[in-house]
Amino acid sequence: MARLRCPDSVNVLLLGTGGREHALAWKLKKSPRLKTLWVEADANAGLLEIGRVCPEPMTDTFRLARWCEREEINLIVVGPEVPLAQDFVTKMSDLPRRVVFGPTRAGAQLEWDKAFAKQVMRAASVPTADARTFTDLEQALAYVDTRVDGCVVKATGLAAGKGVIVCKTIPQARAAVEDCLSKRLFGDAGATILIEDLLEGPEVSVIALCDGQTFWVLDAAQDHKRVGEGDTGANTGGMGAFCPTPRATNDLMRVVERDVLVPTIDALKRMDVPFRGVLYAGIMLTPAGPKVLEFNTRFGDPETQPMMTRLKGDLVELCWATATAQLSLVELDFDSRAACCVVVCAKGYPDAYAKGHEITGLDDAKATTCVAGEEIHLFHAGTTRKNGKLVTNGGRVIGVTALAATVARASALATEAAAKIRFEGAFFRKDIGANLELHASAVAPRA
Ligand code: AMP
Ligand code: GLY
Repeated sequence: MARLRCPDSVNVLLLGTGGREHALAWKLKKSPRLKTLWVEADANAGLLEIGRVCPEPMTDTFRLARWCEREEINLIVVGPEVPLAQDFVTKMSDLPRRVVFGPTRAGAQLEWDKAFAKQVMRAASVPTADARTFTDLEQALAYVDTRVDGCVVKATGLAAGKGVIVCKTIPQARAAVEDCLSKRLFGDAGATILIEDLLEGPEVSVIALCDGQTFWVLDAAQDHKRVGEGDTGANTGGMGAFCPTPRATNDLMRVVERDVLVPTIDALKRMDVPFRGVLYAGIMLTPAGPKVLEFNTRFGDPETQPMMTRLKGDLVELCWATATAQLSLVELDFDSRAACCVVVCAKGYPDAYAKGHEITGLDDAKATTCVAGEEIHLFHAGTTRKNGKLVTNGGRVIGVTALAATVARASALATEAAAKIRFEGAFFRKDIGANLELHASAVAPRA
């Protein structure tokens, strides 16, 4: 990998159309190096306000590469997991002066193949739930019948955050196995399943930038995956998130770095896969210590929304350094304030929901009373424009993100502002970042 220095003037193409990407775009825009930011044609309305539209589909990498040459694109930032699994990064990294941020398909296998991730963790002694892999219905059912405790049935492929079924009883587990292997609830993504031990404990998302050799832990955040308040109801992509989290003590982060990040990156290196991009470890803090629930190989959504509002420095340079194995040359710094994102969703989400409802109240939400040092940012997720009006276009519609002195205050502010966003069937969780055992200011800065 050539150690190209990050140019002073960079044209960036950003892949992805959701809330995570709006937050990334917002942060890329702040870079003094950014010349032009290009986004996908079907990006949300927030992205389209700040980026120029790339006319080529991201799936036609041949045409896209030619377009990138014409427009002198220097940096491509890949937001979502699907292009990573399709090896977009390898296909587009064929020009010496173009750099692509994200792992190759081989690195992204940690996310698109949970059975592979389990093997890597097992081989590298990374703490995780014990699990077995099945493709055969009868064998999987026979295994479930031998279990005494609950278990978790997981589709091993990409299932948009939905391929995990937590089962407290054997009948529930049998039904989950049938849903995956027989009814194909998650399509081909669930043609192979993992049946793993049910762990218990609070969760934390640890998100690191890796360049193949060095890594920086960007931040630890708390996501809220269940649709209902008090962590009830169906799993979603994420109803809200905040950072920093008092759960990520210095001791915990040292253990996660030593026992999870280092051995995983080393194991991939031994397989000749230098991992360059985002390594996101979903961790459960069990009584037996932190254990990995899953790896993602891209930024979290909605964790990115609060994270980007806290990240100081130049995201263009950071992506460049990650993709060119120069992370050891850059410094990371975070705003000392806390950030909290509350996602306003469409009625029905995470199941079927309607689209096309007019959205109002954005200006009111932004005008929510803040004291000095507080900020509110609205990151679009599922929005589009129709006849000049802003309308809903997804299950997660807008991520209302507040920065304030403490998580408690950021949570209160984001929740107050979220209530001002109106469309038919709008709902959000009112307990994102609430009920924290500890004050954000009690989190010691990491050494
Ligand atoms: P994942 O997509 O693998 O992070 O799983 C989604 C959610 O399912 C996690 O955030 C956990 O709440 C839950 N989960 C996943 N694996 C386990 C496990 N082994 N034990 C208990 N809960 C789990
Ligand atoms: N918020 C969880 C994820 O991005 O997978």
